[in-house]
Amino acid sequence: MPKTQEKARLLETRRVAEDTHRIALYAPRITATARPGQFVMVRITSEGTDPLLNRPFSFHRIHKDDGLFEILFRVVGRGTWLLSQRKEGETLEVIGPLGNFFTLPPAHEETVALVAGGIGIAPMEEWGHRLAQWARGDEARRVYLFYGARTASEVVPTRRLERKGVTTFISTDDGTLGRCGTALDLLDQTCRDLSIRPQRLYSCGPLAMQAAVATWARQQNLPAVMSLESVMACGIGACLGCALPAVPPDDSSRIHYVHVCKEGPVFDSRKILWEKMEPMPVRPLSFVCS
Ligand SMILES: Cc1cc2nc3c(=O)[nH]c(=O)nc-3n(C[C@H](O)[C@H](O)[C@H](O)COP(=O)(O)OP(=O)(O)OC[C@H]3O[C@@H](n4cnc5c(N)ncnc54)[C@H](O)[C@@H]3O)c2cc1C
Ligand code: FES
Repeated sequence: MPKTQEKARLLETRRVAEDTHRIALYAPRITATARPGQFVMVRITSEGTDPLLNRPFSFHRIHKDDGLFEILFRVVGRGTWLLSQRKEGETLEVIGPLGNFFTLPPAHEETVALVAGGIGIAPMEEWGHRLAQWARGDEARRVYLFYGARTASEVVPTRRLERKGVTTFISTDDGTLGRCGTALDLLDQTCRDLSIRPQRLYSCGPLAMQAAVATWARQQNLPAVMSLESVMACGIGACLGCALPAVPPDDSSRIHYVHVCKEGPVFDSRKILWEKMEPMPVRPLSFVCS
């Protein structure tokens, strides 16, 4: 897959939820080959070395005809804060598209569920959009989105996906919007209440959520395709900083590692050795929702 370094023009910047921004970048060469699930490395500053490293962001929306893509990001540290301060008309150095991508469900599957936790909603918008197109080709096909955030002010609007026909359910950890509880509580409870039987999950969110979703999927005997995050330095397989423990490809008992930037970020959850992660992704305690 060709990757390109491009000076991207910042066309639009918008705050869409608390500490959460969406920016549109005009980068026709990167956009031309971008696919949902892939990511770009963004050089945050044009001068100096602070922050030193580029930062990875998923494609949130891809507009092939206009040569532009959008990223959605949450301010968590210096790099994302600096990015939130960049102004329309400025340029940013971007490398991409990087990594692998989501693929459509096999022909016999009709019902799929997207599970997004927090800023994990970012890649799900473009992927949900593609799945909505897939569903339009067959009456029996259904696409659901289960989206959990910490609190109402952090919920990114999902109207665009709903308009495309993605049935959306929302939860917040503190119950200020939608069902009270985590994204997994939402998925589990809504599937029971409405007798929804997804045949495949696509998920993105914090590692603790992903580990819990992987366990749930295993119990339900469902494939779960996950866009995983890890801290990345180079984004191109050169520094080995993004490795996660995985099931070895052969019968050996040695721990095998996969690199999120190269072999991912999209993985079959059954290929990841969740229990060997350090530190172990711990599911946050559920709020007591009355
Ligand atoms: C493939 C990939 C795609 C991503 N897509 C998006 C996206 O679409 N939108 C978005 O908001 N974020 C995304 N991220 C995470 C994003 O890259 C980090 O939030 C960002 O690099 C933090 O930079 P910073 O300088 O602001 O924070 P730093 O100062 O570097 O770190 C601040 C805090 O965030 C934590 N952190 C840093 N990087 C990560 C990471 N990769 N995962 C989890 N925690 C991290 C640090 O441990 C620290 O606690 C993605 C990460 C990967 C690997
Ligand atoms: S980030 Fe450097 S090898 Fe993956």
